[in-house]
Amino acid sequence: MNNVIVGLDIGTCNVRAVIAELSEDGSLNVTGVGSSPSTGLRKGVVLNIEATLKAIQSAIEAAELMSACEVTSCYVAIGGSQIESFNSKGLVAVSSKGKENKEIDQSDIDRVIDAARAIMIPMDREILHVIPQSYIVDGQGGLKEPRAMIGVRLEVEVHIVTASVTATQNIVRCVNRAAYGVDGIMLKTLAAARSVMTQEERNLGSILIDLGGGTTDVLVLCDDAPVCSCSIPIGGQMVTNDISIVKGISTENAEKIKIDAGCCWEPLLDTYEEVLLPGVGGRAPEIITRQELCQIIQPRVQEILEMTRDKLALLTKSKQLSGNIVLCGGGALMHGIADLTSYVFDTSAVRIGNAAKMGGLFDEYHSPQYATATGIVLTQADVRRKAIESGELQIRETKQRDNTLTKDLFAGIKEFFKAFF
Ligand SMILES: Nc1ncnc2c1ncn2[C@@H]1O[C@H](COP(=O)(O)OP(=O)(O)OP(=O)(O)O)[C@@H](O)[C@H]1O
Ligand SMILES: [Mg+2]
Repeated sequence: MNNVIVGLDIGTCNVRAVIAELSEDGSLNVTGVGSSPSTGLRKGVVLNIEATLKAIQSAIEAAELMSACEVTSCYVAIGGSQIESFNSKGLVAVSSKGKENKEIDQSDIDRVIDAARAIMIPMDREILHVIPQSYIVDGQGGLKEPRAMIGVRLEVEVHIVTASVTATQNIVRCVNRAAYGVDGIMLKTLAAARSVMTQEERNLGSILIDLGGGTTDVLVLCDDAPVCSCSIPIGGQMVTNDISIVKGISTENAEKIKIDAGCCWEPLLDTYEEVLLPGVGGRAPEIITRQELCQIIQPRVQEILEMTRDKLALLTKSKQLSGNIVLCGGGALMHGIADLTSYVFDTSAVRIGNAAKMGGLFDEYHSPQYATATGIVLTQADVRRKAIESGELQIRETKQRDNTLTKDLFAGIKEFFKAFF
């Protein structure tokens, strides 16, 4: 393994790449970031391999240029409708083989997690993550670390994330055809949460909402573990479409106006500001107010947030969430989004989550849009730091990477998550 980590977020609107280097002292420095508009996906699912691989190539090439480092493989995030998740339980008798007493060790933990993942899933799906939420030893619940405890019966509560086999294969294919290997795949909201949420928020119970272009992805964390994740198949592109249809302008112009003058919370617009809409086909340009624009944007964004709220109300019935609602993704840049979210969820505990700052000479990734790509890098850095601590991994101070293209892809993915969870 090497000290360079590359995170790739293949989104419906943009592909984003982050290159970081983990140094021997455990510090992580970002050396390159790149992004490229993406046109080959719909609602987070690859529909056009050619267009997607081109976007991947240009995002990674832009990051390579910045970091003067040649990328051969990367860690990829996936989300959207191809993901499903649920909670499960596992139970084993603590083994006394080779031990003086029934002290729980790593092999018991591995066995109970294997028991929890032994569930029927459809043939067209594969397990992406099995994340322990808490352990129960002889009926005593809520344990985070059962190792070294003495007990007879070990149970675990886990959150299982599954992905569509074909959708995952298509993502991997795009990356491979762009001439990069895939070191691992992870759920994009899990990555984003690593980047934008504080430990306190994760413990108290918080909701991450990734307001993307094609989908709105949600992850609820409580006691530092995911309790539910879901995706709503609407995003910022729908808002742009609304502006384009209502005002009779192209989607390119609608997108530009949305970004430059859009707002989704009318009370913030107390001054009279005008927006110039370009005329189509020789039609004279039209002048509207920001309020008028807001009246097109706000109902759609509110609808997305209400759908999220209603879905979560069903999924997290019994959970006490006293942390924050953290917003990320491009939609989190919309003027007034925190106010509208506060209104819909009836709480003031809402904030915009900027990607965590790491070391390095620049911080242009410190925005909600880079939450996922930076989160992948941070997660993998955690895995490597753990491996270094346990003496399994030596950092090699070189920018040359092994060519992992021909490596057994799924073995690599398995190893990554075995180390992580
Ligand atoms: N300043 C801004 N104000 C309002 N919306 C914005 C702003 N900047 C970007 N967006 C919107 O954010 C969306 C893109 O966000 P992002 O790049 O996170 O999506 P993505 O990751 O490509 O998509 P997905 O996660 O759904 O696959 C677009 O709809 C874009 O219009
Ligand atoms: Mg996204």
